[in-house]
Amino acid sequence: MTVQATATLPQHIAIIMDGNGRWAQQRHLPRTVGHAKGSSGVRGLVEHCAKLGVKYLTLFAFSTENWNRPADEVSTLMGLFVQYLEKEMSSLAAAGVQLKVIGDVAGFAPELQTRIQAAEKATQHNQTITLVVAANYGGQWDVVQAVKNWQAAHPEASADQLTQAQLAQYLSTAGMPDVDLLIRTGGEQRISNFLLWQSAYAELYFTDVLWPDFDRVQLEKAIYWYGQRQRRFGLTSDQFLKAAV
Ligand code: FPP
Repeated sequence: MTVQATATLPQHIAIIMDGNGRWAQQRHLPRTVGHAKGSSGVRGLVEHCAKLGVKYLTLFAFSTENWNRPADEVSTLMGLFVQYLEKEMSSLAAAGVQLKVIGDVAGFAPELQTRIQAAEKATQHNQTITLVVAANYGGQWDVVQAVKNWQAAHPEASADQLTQAQLAQYLSTAGMPDVDLLIRTGGEQRISNFLLWQSAYAELYFTDVLWPDFDRVQLEKAIYWYGQRQRRFGLTSDQFLKAAV
């Protein structure tokens, strides 16, 4: 593995956008208002990441477990996603954003699947930043679907022949760098089945700030914190310092 520890800017930031419901409840508003507010801030953050030079931003929009929420909340989240694709994609596309959706999208309504495909196709050659939206996504699902797809592509092969590098090519994030900085807003300190494989060496940044309040200043604070970390990728401090010079 190449030690990239001297880089102070994360190439790939992933965010668990937690706290929408509490943000709304604190204001005596329905939880769905919190989701709407949380969604409206996404565009500014994507643009800011692009401006700073971050190449990949992955957002956890909807987990496989989120289907268990009340029906009106699930439909609000779906609606926001559709609206996002409709309203924001053209301006993001003009700013050089490539959209990629990861997750079991077959579980979504056909209309949403069509919109997702169209937005991915329309932005596929953009190179400023890749916005990855994890929707109906779970990290354990991702590993299992990767194994199944690897086996389907190599019907004669036995599991003994499967390497980590090969399996990575069948994850939904194939071709992307692993996560450098994983941010979770909203005060909880857990990964909640997000990018489990891809976050193996990620720096984990937890903040009490609720997602609707997570703005550019908060983002820069997290990136600054990341810049202070010494990423050793399993090396000792001495080995790390030698490798970094
Ligand atoms: C967690 O807050 C947030 C979600 C389950 C959904 C996040 C979705 C969005 C911000 C909107 C769609 C995103 C895009 C990219 C268009 P919570 O409800 O768990 O909050 P709580 O912990 O305060 O209850």
